[in-house]
Amino acid sequence: RVDQMLANRHILVTAGPTHEPIDPVRYIANRSSGKQGYAIAAALAEMGAKVTLVSGPVLAQTPPGVTRIDVETAQEMANAVATALPADAAVMVAAVGDWRVETADQKLKKGDTSPTLQLSENPDILALLAASPHRPKLVVGFAAETERVIEHATAKRLRKGADWIVANDVSGDVMGGADNTVHLITPDGIEDWARMPKDQVARKLAERIAHAL
Ligand code: C5P
Repeated sequence: RVDQMLANRHILVTAGPTHEPIDPVRYIANRSSGKQGYAIAAALAEMGAKVTLVSGPVLAQTPPGVTRIDVETAQEMANAVATALPADAAVMVAAVGDWRVETADQKLKKGDTSPTLQLSENPDILALLAASPHRPKLVVGFAAETERVIEHATAKRLRKGADWIVANDVSGDVMGGADNTVHLITPDGIEDWARMPKDQVARKLAERIAHAL
């Protein structure tokens, strides 16, 4: 039965952007609606999994049966992911900010010169999880690319230690849209999936995860 295929499995999903504060009123962020990650969390829950969704700030509604943990920054997301372990699988869909800002305590004021933002690198949550002693059996990453999609995503799978990478070409209208065109990159090769609604991508990926676990 499809609705029981993931019974007794705990699956961790990250979704949405992170917000990296500049000062109390400003932040830098990645473009992410959270739609694809939320659809994946929903599809996994529909198959009976216990789902922990660690989410950056988005407008999307929490899917039924999903435990949602809200975070703002990449560091908070990394902590929430570590706290949510152990898990049988992890699907890292969040668009994590690569850098955080040296945050000002007070609102920056306009003046004669523009402020310079001091950036430091954020932890790579996916790479840390893949190298962790509590590594889930199946670690799935996403790769949003605007050019040479397969090549970049294949390199990313190896560099980050993920089992699978879902590569998507975001050069078109994917951001915030209802449809997605993805390629599933596994150790066995590359599958090109037809363009389909994000919730269909989610169900197809959830079924693949169920078979792999
Ligand atoms: O390197 P890039 O950001 O393109 O990698 C994307 C994949 O890595 C996604 O699965 C994303 O959720 C994850 N990631 C992460 N922590 C970061 C950066 C990316 O988990 N700091």
